[in-house]
Amino acid sequence: MKNLALTHPDLAFDVEAARRHFPILSRTVHGRPLVYLDNGASTQRPQSVIDAVNDYERRHHANIHRGVHTLSQEATALYESARDRLVRFVNARSRTEIIFVRGTTEAINLVTQSYARPALQPGDEVLITHLEHHANIVPWQMVCAQTGAKLVAAPMTAQGEIQLEAVIALMNPRTRILACAHVSNALGTVLPVRRLVAAAKARAITTLVDGAQAVAHMAVDVRDLDCDFYTFSSHKMYGPTGVGVLYGREQLLERMPPWQGGGDMILAVTFEKTTYNALPYKFEAGTPNISGAVGLGAAVDFLSSLDRKAAHAHEDALLHHATAVLGRIPGLRIIGTAPQKASLVSFVVAGVHPHDLGTILDEDGIAVRTGHHCAMPVMDFFKLPATARASFAFYNTIDEIDKLAAGIERARKIFA
Ligand code: ALA
Repeated sequence: MKNLALTHPDLAFDVEAARRHFPILSRTVHGRPLVYLDNGASTQRPQSVIDAVNDYERRHHANIHRGVHTLSQEATALYESARDRLVRFVNARSRTEIIFVRGTTEAINLVTQSYARPALQPGDEVLITHLEHHANIVPWQMVCAQTGAKLVAAPMTAQGEIQLEAVIALMNPRTRILACAHVSNALGTVLPVRRLVAAAKARAITTLVDGAQAVAHMAVDVRDLDCDFYTFSSHKMYGPTGVGVLYGREQLLERMPPWQGGGDMILAVTFEKTTYNALPYKFEAGTPNISGAVGLGAAVDFLSSLDRKAAHAHEDALLHHATAVLGRIPGLRIIGTAPQKASLVSFVVAGVHPHDLGTILDEDGIAVRTGHHCAMPVMDFFKLPATARASFAFYNTIDEIDKLAAGIERARKIFA
């Protein structure tokens, strides 16, 4: 039995039961069963998330923190209970450390403008890595231009790895901030973030970890990672779009000025002076995405109801199977072969442009992402304009990967 489970890892995780939670997975595309392999861009929603949003919209919607009436109080309670779930989900110390934002991009922009802009001096350095998503490059470039600080990118190996020693070699007394991905969206590389954060902390460097591609795949404990900021998006972890989270260490958030002004982030306003609200509301100006937060809370409940170790093992099995079967296709090159990878495979096929490949696969009902994946420096490194990327969730199957391989073979024949 043990051997059987090893040779057939699907047995350890009931993927068919998991799939039944996701209504979209039973639809067809171009007359074929949908094979959804674009989870790195956005995951699908389970019925419980759809129901939570629907129930909120149908029965509870009102503006929050503002009304004495019943609906406003119900909406406030739902929104704030989503925050409580997120505190537990990432093991924050308190609800003051969980800020609702639009997503990872907004979270990083908040940190660059509210934390980094007042802190950086000309000549200071912000250290990132070569494999970052544009959202963890451009906001830092902007704040460097505003402050006279310098952006430094740690190198990547030919396998797409970020080595601890290479990052440490770039840390110096002018380094103020280390901002790095937990998992690369373009290559799947898992970075040694715990050790990177420890090295930064030993040098009094503030740390931000972009967890957008990590939270759906692994349990994240911000206290164990010991980072100062951690950012993620709801729609990459089975929740709705337009909402995400900035986790920040309370002592830092307390010292940071508000980023945007408006409703909910104030206690009192006169024309002379505004008294800001307490955390976390100081950073939540304007009416937030209430239904999105409610849906994100339901997504946390859904993820927590899974056997996450088994789900992770299943995703790992998908990665290994995909690496093996795609690797056997003549002319196919896998881009990003780090030993520690999350469940995605980026690849190019000789003679077939990734966009053409994506279109041909779509005819077979197979959704992959093609392009530069908002990580142009990664593409430049590999001297490629684009790759195709298949990114897996726990609801994907070995059979779907075999369909992907067959679709790629069909595309090769078309272009032969
Ligand atoms: N950042 C998203 C991706 O990697 C959109 O596809």
